[in-house]
Amino acid sequence: MGNKYGSWLLLSQFLVLITTIQAKIPALIVFGDSSVDSGNNDYIPTVARSNFEPYGRDFQGGRPTGRFSNGRIATDFISEALGLKPTVPAYLDPAYGISDFAVGVSFASAATGYDNATSDVLSVIPFWKQLEYYKDYQRRLKGYLGENKASQTISEALYLISIGTNDFVENYYAVPGGRSSEYSISQYQIFLAGIAESFVRKLYGLGARKISLGGLPPMGCMPLERTTNMMNGNECVESYNIVAMDFNGKLYNLVNKLNKELPGVQLIFSNPYYVFLHIIRNPASYGFDETSVACCATGMFEMGYACNRNNLFTCANADKYVFWDSFHPTQKTNQIIANYIVKRVLYPFI
Ligand SMILES: *[C@@H]1O[C@H](CO)[C@@H](O)[C@H](O)[C@H]1NC(C)=O
Repeated sequence: MGNKYGSWLLLSQFLVLITTIQAKIPALIVFGDSSVDSGNNDYIPTVARSNFEPYGRDFQGGRPTGRFSNGRIATDFISEALGLKPTVPAYLDPAYGISDFAVGVSFASAATGYDNATSDVLSVIPFWKQLEYYKDYQRRLKGYLGENKASQTISEALYLISIGTNDFVENYYAVPGGRSSEYSISQYQIFLAGIAESFVRKLYGLGARKISLGGLPPMGCMPLERTTNMMNGNECVESYNIVAMDFNGKLYNLVNKLNKELPGVQLIFSNPYYVFLHIIRNPASYGFDETSVACCATGMFEMGYACNRNNLFTCANADKYVFWDSFHPTQKTNQIIANYIVKRVLYPFI
């Protein structure tokens, strides 16, 4: 009798131990652009696609999924580190259902931005629309888990936002007579930060509490931008990097402000800038051979449909390259950045 009781006690302690080791976070919920799109664009009419070879050639099964990389993206690694699934499925992918999305889902869309005018450029999913999909997700989650359990998932999930690069490189600096004729670069940053603020407030209003707002990478160092910088020996475009740092400063201030204003929120600014720049400046110390051109095709300008299987120049081993296509990191870079973000930024949630 005593023995039985003792082993029950041991078992219950063991179960408590398991639940503390296992994820405090029940789900990873993702909004953003191609940095975190796991295939939503495969299901909308746009040319911003990557669901063909050689994209995904190092993904499980060598399968292109719509991720803009040779393998997994940062959010896949983050999900795994949280004790959840090793990949985060796209909400529009009919191969997945609410039972999958209940632990991880991406509403992101490649080529989108904070600004509606950015998503218009390639007819992708606007940022505001991602929140509409999220509302639909909440309804489905309540049907699947029941009201109580769903509310618990909604408030304890980690929400990750990664967006903004396209507002500058695909829109502001690329569309003549567009936003650049309306706003100075500094005004445009304020405009975008305002959209970020209202998005976070709405997400909070819908029940989110643990939110990571992502900063911009050193976008002047993407091979595509370097290619245009011939006059300076294809160095990083310094002015773009400065804009990224300025904008990150604004997001950092926004995060501090909202943490004071919104009761119970845990909002974290997740800055990939310095770790990414460190990789680009010291590729060899991470095992990379090449940082200024990408693996796919000539590595100078190709992405999306221009990065395809017919290209003879594509590199053999993407692990030697920081960039997979002219705009997106390789799986290996994604993993290094994700590890850094998990250890240095998201640790309060783990
Ligand atoms: C973007 O478009 C949506 C839908 O038309 C609209 O509700 C929203 O206010 C727009 N955002 C901005 C910042 O203009």
